[in-house]
Amino acid sequence: MKKILAYSHHLLEEVVRQGDTVMDATCGNGNDTFFLSQLVKEDGNVFAFDIQEKALENTSTLLSKNNIQNVKLIHDGHENCEKYIPTNDELAGAIFNLGYLPKGDHQIITTPQNTIRAIQSILTRLRPNGRIVIVVYHGHMGGKEEKEKVLDFCGNLDQSYYQVLQYQFINQINHPPFIIAIEKLC
Ligand SMILES: C[S@@+](CC[C@H](N)C(=O)[O-])C[C@H]1O[C@@H](n2cnc3c(N)ncnc32)[C@H](O)[C@@H]1O
Repeated sequence: MKKILAYSHHLLEEVVRQGDTVMDATCGNGNDTFFLSQLVKEDGNVFAFDIQEKALENTSTLLSKNNIQNVKLIHDGHENCEKYIPTNDELAGAIFNLGYLPKGDHQIITTPQNTIRAIQSILTRLRPNGRIVIVVYHGHMGGKEEKEKVLDFCGNLDQSYYQVLQYQFINQINHPPFIIAIEKLC
């Protein structure tokens, strides 16, 4: 069985193609941004968001080291993503890693309102068969509330338009992360 991070990437590899437009909603240290940039290749586009200067710096450093040029780094919240992605660009995929920046300030965390607002915006721009992958970290302060609200929102999406998956190891201790994935039906 694939571990959580490997499975989150696998879910996107199945639907994202060269030349596509994709979004990293929480770029953090840039690992998912880098992964997405390689998936869509030089002629694709990655929009990567974070509210922390430090996260954008870390991501920028990783991308420069690897000579990656197809990423637009955006210093703003993912809840405002519709301002930045051109209206005629359909998204093939998007990824969130909820929680705080690893090795960063544990008080700066994703919030249920902003996460749900961003998911709603992305759903309007997602192409048929496109996917939103949400890696839910929930052991920190505020994490339980976000987990419950995001699960509730995603679990109530209309099954005529979306299928929603939860991928989780149920015998691990200490609040292990899990995945919620939303696929837009045709
Ligand atoms: C778990 S980390 C992301 C880890 C990242 N995917 C990586 O590979 O390193 C969560 C990130 O979400 C960011 N964040 C919090 N609220 C946000 C918002 N409204 N919009 C965009 N990013 C946000 C935090 O600053 C933090 O860097």
